[in-house]
Amino acid sequence: MQCGAYLNEARGNRDVGFPRRTDKGGALFPPDKEPMSATIDLSEPAPRFRPAVPPPLREPLGLFEFLRAARKNPITTWMDAHFKLPVVAAEGAMGRITVVSDPALIRYLLIENVDGYRKDDLQRRVLAPGLGNGLLSAEGDEWRLQRRTLAPIFNARTVQGFSDAMNAAGAKLGRRLARRAGKQVDVALEMTRVTLDVLERTIFTHGLPSDPDALGRAITRFLEAVGPIDPLDVFGVPDFVPRIGRLRARPAGRFFAEVVDALIARRKALMAGGDAPRDLLTLLLAAHDPETGNGLSDLAVKANIVTFIAAGHETTANSLTWTLYCLSQDPAAQARIEAEVDAAGPGDFAAERLPFTRAAIEEAMRLFPPVPFLSRQAVRDDRLGRIKVPRGSLVLVAPWVLHRHHLLWRDPDAFMPERFLPENRDAIPRFAYLPFGAGPRVCIGQSFSIQEAVIVLAHVVRAVRFRLPEDHPPVTPLHRVTLRPEHGLRMEAEARD
Ligand code: HEM
Repeated sequence: MQCGAYLNEARGNRDVGFPRRTDKGGALFPPDKEPMSATIDLSEPAPRFRPAVPPPLREPLGLFEFLRAARKNPITTWMDAHFKLPVVAAEGAMGRITVVSDPALIRYLLIENVDGYRKDDLQRRVLAPGLGNGLLSAEGDEWRLQRRTLAPIFNARTVQGFSDAMNAAGAKLGRRLARRAGKQVDVALEMTRVTLDVLERTIFTHGLPSDPDALGRAITRFLEAVGPIDPLDVFGVPDFVPRIGRLRARPAGRFFAEVVDALIARRKALMAGGDAPRDLLTLLLAAHDPETGNGLSDLAVKANIVTFIAAGHETTANSLTWTLYCLSQDPAAQARIEAEVDAAGPGDFAAERLPFTRAAIEEAMRLFPPVPFLSRQAVRDDRLGRIKVPRGSLVLVAPWVLHRHHLLWRDPDAFMPERFLPENRDAIPRFAYLPFGAGPRVCIGQSFSIQEAVIVLAHVVRAVRFRLPEDHPPVTPLHRVTLRPEHGLRMEAEARD
C-alpha cells in the first residue's frame, strides 16, 4: 500500500509490547504472556494448504504504477516490509500513510485514543454517496446516536432469534446444491444468493416487492463501481467533480432507494395494524435512543437498511466462498467438518455446537479478510510508539497484513482451522485478528454474520462436497471494497449421500 520512500521503520518497538522472537523453537511471545501459537505443533507432518496470493513487493512502486495497481487490485501494492515490521510509515501518492500491525498500538489507535482519529475522508467519500448517512458512514454525534439506538437490535438474544431464518435459507441452499450434484456450481454466486436470502428473511420477513436477484445485482454493481480507488479521491479533488465510479453506481443507488422506500411504507401500515413481523425492519422502525427516547428518521432507517445489505451481504458471502475453497484443498479439514456436521444430526443447526465449522470460517477470514484494511485519519498530531503521526495523515490497520504478519503467526500463509478451536483461541492476542475491526466502531453485525456463516456452511457441507476443476483459473484475491476470488469460484458439487 505504499509508493515513495520509507520515512522510517519501527524496528522492534519492544517498548510498546510487540510480540518478539524467542529462542524456544521459534515460538512467538507477546511480552510476559504465553506463546501465542504454542498449541500448534510445528512438527506436524501433514502438508498444509497455502493458498496462492500476490507476492508482496520488494521495492516501492513509482507513482503511476502505484495508481494503476491500486485501481486494478489494491492487494497487489503491499510491500514485504508490511508483513515483517510492526509499524511502517511512508510518504507516497496519498500523502503520509502509517500502517500499524502492533497489537498494542492497534489497541491504542482504536480504543485508548479513539478520539484522536476519525474515519478518513477517502473512505467516507467512497461510501457515503451510496449508503447515505447510515451507521457505517456517519460520524460524531450522528454516529453515537445511531449506534446507541441500533445496538439492541444486534445483541446476542435478538441475533439468536434469527437462527430459524438462517436455517431456512441454508436448508434451501442445501436442497438446491444437492439437485446440482455432478454439475459445476458458481460457488461465489450461490453464496451471494444465500446471504441475500438471509437478509431478505431477517430484514423483510414478507419478502422483497421485486425480484430479489435484481437487488443482489444492484448491490454487486454498486460495489463494483465504487470499488476501485479513484485517483480523484486520492488527490482530494473536491466532491463536485464527478467520478466515473460514482456515476456508474448511481442507478444502483437509486434502485436501492426506491425498493426500500416501498418496503418502509408497507411495513409502517402493518405496524399500525398491530400485525408486523419481528424482523430487522420492524426493530429499526420501532428503535429508540435509550437516552433521549427519540426514534430514527425515515431517512436514517433507509440509510441503515441499505447499509446492512451492502455491509452484510458481500462480506459474509465472501467469507463463505473462501472457506469452501480452502476446505476443497484440505481433505483432512473437509473430513473433520463433515464429521462434525454429520454428528449434529438432521434438522436445524445450532451455531454454538459447531466449533470446527466456526474455526474453518474464522481461519478463512484470517487468510482472506472480507474487509482487507481499515483506515483512520489523525485529527491531531500523535505518536504511535516511536513513530510521529502528523495531523490529517492516514493510519491503516490492515487485516490482510496483520493476519499474515510474520511476527504474529506461525506459518502465516497456511490454512490451519485448529488455530481457532476453543482450546487454542485464547492464545491469539485480541488485536492480532480483526476481521470485524475493534473498538467503538467494531462491526455491529459480527455475531449475526458468524452465526449465519456457520449455519449456512453446515447446510452446504451436509448436502455436497466441492471439488475444484483442473481447468479453473488460479483462485487469487481481488480487492473490491471486499476481497473476492478474482476469477470467481466454479466448483464441481459431489453428492454426499
Ligand atoms: C463476514 C462478515 C462481515 C465482516 C468481515 C465485516 C467487517 C466489518 C468491519 C471491519 C467493520 C469496521 C470498519 C471500520 O472500523 O472502519 C464493520 C463495520 C460495520 N458492519 Fe460489518 N462486517 C461483516 C458483516 C456485517 C453484517 C452482517 C452487518 C449487518 C447486518 C454489518 C454491518 C456493519 C455496520 C453497520 C458497520 C459500521 C459500524 C459502526 O461504524 O458503528 N456487517 N464491519
